[in-house]
Parts: sequence; C-alpha cells; structure tokens
Amino acid sequence: MKALDLAISILRSGGLVAFPTETVYGLGADATNPSAVARIFAAKGRPDSNPLIAHVANTDIARKYAAEWPTVADTLATHFWPGPLTLVVRKTPHIADTVTAGKPTVGLRVPDHPLALQLLRAFAGPLAAPSANRSNRVSPTTAQHVRDELGDAIDLILDGGPSRVGIESTVLDLTSPTPTILRLGGVSQQQLEQLIGPVHLSTRPTNDGAPASPGQLPVHYSPITPAYRFETSQRGKVPVDLGGAKCGIMVLSPLVGMKKFGPIIAMSQDPIEYAQNLYDVMRELDAMDLAAIFIEVPPDEPHWAAIRDRILRATTPI
Ligand code: TXA
Ligand code: MG
Repeated sequence: MKALDLAISILRSGGLVAFPTETVYGLGADATNPSAVARIFAAKGRPDSNPLIAHVANTDIARKYAAEWPTVADTLATHFWPGPLTLVVRKTPHIADTVTAGKPTVGLRVPDHPLALQLLRAFAGPLAAPSANRSNRVSPTTAQHVRDELGDAIDLILDGGPSRVGIESTVLDLTSPTPTILRLGGVSQQQLEQLIGPVHLSTRPTNDGAPASPGQLPVHYSPITPAYRFETSQRGKVPVDLGGAKCGIMVLSPLVGMKKFGPIIAMSQDPIEYAQNLYDVMRELDAMDLAAIFIEVPPDEPHWAAIRDRILRATTPI
C-alpha cells in the first residue's frame, strides 16, 4: 500500500499520523473525531486546555469550518495561504470541541508543503495537528526528530524532508476588534500590517514571568538541558567553567577571546536560515549530555522577533 493510502486509512480509523509541514512536523488526527483527537493530547502529554490547529487543503474548506469568515480573513488567506499563518475565527460544530479546548473559536491553517497538501486533499477533511513533540519540548523539523521523541505513540510518520521555515506558524486572532497576534512565527507582524493595517501583538510572558492563561505557559519549546540566554553585550559574562563540566554555546558570530568549554555552534546571521536550524541545533546540543546550553540572543529587530520569542521561552537569563 502506498504511504499516503495507508495514512488515510489510519486517519479514518481514528489513528495518529505525523506529517511534514513547511514550519515544523505536525501530529495529525481527524479533527471531527473526538477520540482520535484525545489520542493527540495523550501522546504529547498536552493539557487539554490548549487548543489545536485544524489543517485544511484550501480556503474553501477552511470556510466550511468557520461560523464567521470576515473579509480580512479572505484577504489574508489569499495572500498567505498556503503558508505559515494560522487564522483564529469562530468555529462551526463540525470541529470537535476537544480540538478547540471547548473554545468557540478554531485556528485554521493551509500548510505550504506538497506532502501535507496531498494528504489533506486525499483526506478531504480537517486534520487537527499540533507540533509532533512532547508538550513543552522543542518542535520537530525532521521525521527523525519525530521518531526519536514520539515514535512509539504514532501509527505512521510521513517523511517529507527537513521543514523549510523551521519555526511554527504565526497565530492571528481575527475575533478581537483589532487582529491580534497570539504567537509570532513564520509570517511577521510587518508583513501582516502591510496587507491589513494595524495588528496587535499579545504580550505573553516569557519564562521571566507568570503564565497568563493555559496554553500560554512561559516555559515552552525548551531543551531538557538547562538553557540560558545572553545578549551580545554580555559575552564576557558567560560562565566559562561550570566546575569543569562541558557546556554548549550558540553564537551569532565567532567568539573572539573566549575560552572554549564545549561545543560552539555559529548560527546564521540571516534570520531565515537561523530559523531553519534553530530547533535542530537545540536538539543536537540537548543530546550531548551537557551541563548547560548558552544562547546568544539575536538583536531586538523586527525580522528577528519570532526567533527571539522562541529563545526567550526556551531559556532563562544568565
Ligand atoms: O506551524 C504550526 O502552527 C504547527 C504546524 C504543525 O502546523 N503547529 C503548531 O501547533 O505549532 P501547536 O499545537 O504546537 O501550537 C498551536 C498554537 C498554540 O499556541 C495554541 O494555543 C494556539 O495555536 N491556538 C490554536 N487554536 C487556538 C484558538 N482557537 N484560540 C487561540 N489560540 C489557539
Ligand atoms: Mg507546539
């Protein structure tokens, strides 16, 4: 049987299929089947108060699951779909309440990956899919990442190569008076504003603060190894010796005059390339049995905003 046929039959019988998207790999189940959706939460160890995104093949199908489809949704879908943007709109009853954690809204997205689109077209319905990692861990950007972390809990993993974007979609709430970004991601605030005018950015706590609500937990996307961040101006303050233990460090440019005390990874200075590699490098360092990981935070500039957001959630300041 072809992998895609097998995937469809697993999904139709309430099973779990991990699939590639351009952002990160998703852990998919039939979004109209509550018991299939319950398996996602169980596999991830995810609190059932945190809603899932429903993935669909195109805008026409998205509209079927939206009780309201404002003009601005159409404008955004036409411009950014398929792509790394999730639109939160009022939902119809077809979407299982477990998908949306009992909320009256649903996050809808058309992913920009040929294999994901093939799967969605063949399935012809909505697939609930969070990132295919255990709750609060780093999202997977390869099939191997998924296998390593959730292999036993999943019926099938479709391998579509490394994810092109590398960080998750931007989540935009269209039910508030002004469209509000709930999570920064593959589409920037500037790109959205150029198209539809002012957009709010919900200020969610990083792991310096207290959680605002379930699903907005501060520690997120984090390695198991203790992870710390430092600004470029703090390079001299990074502890070079933790009792002789090996530490990993992710920097933006080669370190000059700093003692080497473990693996040093020079990250790209281009945000697109940086995002592609971020989670893979975090996982690689996490697997090295290090005492700590130190990450140099990219500059506080608009094109780095989504990456800074992820690093601020994954780390505590030195
Ligand atoms: O790029 C992505 O978005 C990936 C790929 C697989 O599509 N998916 C992903 O799903 O990152 P997940 O479950 O890891 O993150 C979904 C985010 C969560 O922060 C969740 O709280 C928010 O979207 N979300 C989903 N539905 C929502 C809703 N109805 N209202 C508010 N927030 C919602
Ligand atoms: Mg996730």
